[in-house]
Amino acid sequence: MIQLISPNFADLMEPNIEIGKFPDGDSHVHIPQLPDCRGKDITFFHRLYPNQNDCLIELLLILQTLREQGAGKLTVVAPYLPYARQDKKTMDGEVQSAHIICDLIRKAGCDQLISFDCHFLNAEGETVFGNLPIRNISLASLLVAEAKKFFGGEEFEVVGPDDGAKYLVAAWGGKTMQKRRAAYVDGKVGYRPLETLECEFDVKDKNVLLIDDMISTGNTVIAAAGKLRACGAKKICVAATHGLFLYNCLDKIRKTADEVFATDTIVSPQGQVSIKETLAELLPAAPRLF
Ligand code: R5P
Repeated sequence: MIQLISPNFADLMEPNIEIGKFPDGDSHVHIPQLPDCRGKDITFFHRLYPNQNDCLIELLLILQTLREQGAGKLTVVAPYLPYARQDKKTMDGEVQSAHIICDLIRKAGCDQLISFDCHFLNAEGETVFGNLPIRNISLASLLVAEAKKFFGGEEFEVVGPDDGAKYLVAAWGGKTMQKRRAAYVDGKVGYRPLETLECEFDVKDKNVLLIDDMISTGNTVIAAAGKLRACGAKKICVAATHGLFLYNCLDKIRKTADEVFATDTIVSPQGQVSIKETLAELLPAAPRLF
């Protein structure tokens, strides 16, 4: 088995693939070990965010090259899968990008994608989506362990902001709030604003850990933390597997929550929960982790 490591994994593992740019922005990929890949099973570690479109193209280029080289089973470890939220049609003519991206990855030669808290999968385990075999691993237990440090021995409730977070909070007897999004705003197709977010359980005088699969604009966790506060919650800690923290939302989250953090599936100052050990468990035979 050969492990190929993208430069965008450099904070976690030593890269052995070179990815650069031509002057016009096209990606240039060099796999020094390519001749050794014939007949070997390959695990390729590659982040798909930020610069998701470039990263996806680089993934397709590498997969097809490995396939043409006669590599064996191709496994991709991509901690965060972009386009995963576009898995449903909400208006006529809308493209279901999640399926298409998965299908492209499969067609390029990927035999299994390993990802963490993939948005369209509401459970851990193995499945097939858009023809692509996917293994979804939850990082919720890492988030809960980090929250225990924050709450310093005090008890806390584990809560999700919507039904999609049910599987993230289930192991701790967690409840989920009810979230509804409005239709796309005219001229702003890429975003459906929150319509309502209700909390139908008691959080008065309780510490709360609010867990979501991702924080993008932050609107969901800001509204959820605000609602929990209005319902009398004591300390509120916000945690997500994937922290994109767009539009400087971190400052706004900090105004409603007492603490906020994410894992380092995406590199960010708040990505303080490391996935190193989880990655090592995936490859007990020959981890090349720092
Ligand atoms: C949606 O269902 C997801 O689980 C997240 O709640 C959502 O994508 C977060 O996005 P934002 O931070 O923009 O509200």
